[in-house]
Amino acid sequence: MEKEFLPLKGTDHVEFYCGNAKQSAHFYQMAFGFRLSAYAGPETGVRDRASYVLTQGKVRLVLTTSMDPNSEISEHVKKHGDGVKVLALWVDDVESAYRETTNRGAIGVSEPKEYSDENGSVKMASIQTYGETLHTFVERHDYKGPFLPGFEAREPLMHVEEVGLKYIDHCVGNVELGRMNEWVEFYQKALGFDLLITFDDKDISTEYTALMSKVVSNGNGYVKFPINEPADGKKKSQIEEYIEFYKGAGVQHIAIATDDIIHTVGEMRKRGVDFLYVPDNYYDDIPERVGAIDEEIEDLKRLNLLVDRDDSGYLLQIFTKPVEDRPTLFYEIIQRKGAKSFGKGNFKALFESIEREQAIRGNL
Ligand code: FE2
Repeated sequence: MEKEFLPLKGTDHVEFYCGNAKQSAHFYQMAFGFRLSAYAGPETGVRDRASYVLTQGKVRLVLTTSMDPNSEISEHVKKHGDGVKVLALWVDDVESAYRETTNRGAIGVSEPKEYSDENGSVKMASIQTYGETLHTFVERHDYKGPFLPGFEAREPLMHVEEVGLKYIDHCVGNVELGRMNEWVEFYQKALGFDLLITFDDKDISTEYTALMSKVVSNGNGYVKFPINEPADGKKKSQIEEYIEFYKGAGVQHIAIATDDIIHTVGEMRKRGVDFLYVPDNYYDDIPERVGAIDEEIEDLKRLNLLVDRDDSGYLLQIFTKPVEDRPTLFYEIIQRKGAKSFGKGNFKALFESIEREQAIRGNL
């Protein structure tokens, strides 16, 4: 087999551009159980922005706000609202990652550069993906600092109990009508990803709306990016609603894995996270549809968890409502018990639930 030209060690971090990172950091700590671990801003010599690094398990979120109303960050927030700017990928060799991907058609945004402080050095480079989203390659062999050069370690100001979030399972992009294949080909050609699964509008449609989705994955499967586009339906699809409010393509949801979803979602609910709702009758045919599972159906029902089975096992999942006022980014919490798929059996119930929310917002 040909040697992989872009070996990835996983997701390094996800950076959000937001209007008030200080307050968003509080939300992710109180509601999602993340822990503040590092900070960069005026107090650490960074004049133009403030960034808060939040960690839980292997998940690392970076929340950044600009000090300057005319900066690229502020422009991004003005246009998109709070949203994901960077899906950073952890590599062994940034020079090679940048060269191989740009040689294959990726548009370079920043060339490989080394950043150093007393803790060592990190190399980074960025390429463009859908919308105004970037992939930043991060090489951090011997770096000993809390995050990146320029960041200082920070302790949370309050006691934070983690909720058991472990790692990012997948990050989903919504792209404009007719552009899904273009972006799938981008990941295949420029990043060497494989097409894992295709869902068409027969798989993902309700009485009113439809969408299409293809999942691409890197060689070791650590990085999975489903790409959605709207399909023709009687009414406006959730993907169209997203694109209308995000003002273009962008990250729709981040799925974070747990190994005890009953505990994780129970805690998140206690802390005020708002999840999508499926009606009680969703649970009526679980034994026939999914077969034997370790969990009590009563617990799934109480927490409104979804369950689905594929050839390799089953999975439990649930989706938050959007975490901003614009109906844009939301989160999925997922526990895989063997299953490698994405919960196709739940699509209908899920999309009907999303449509109820769209209708309440006046966007259906
Ligand atoms: Fe998902």
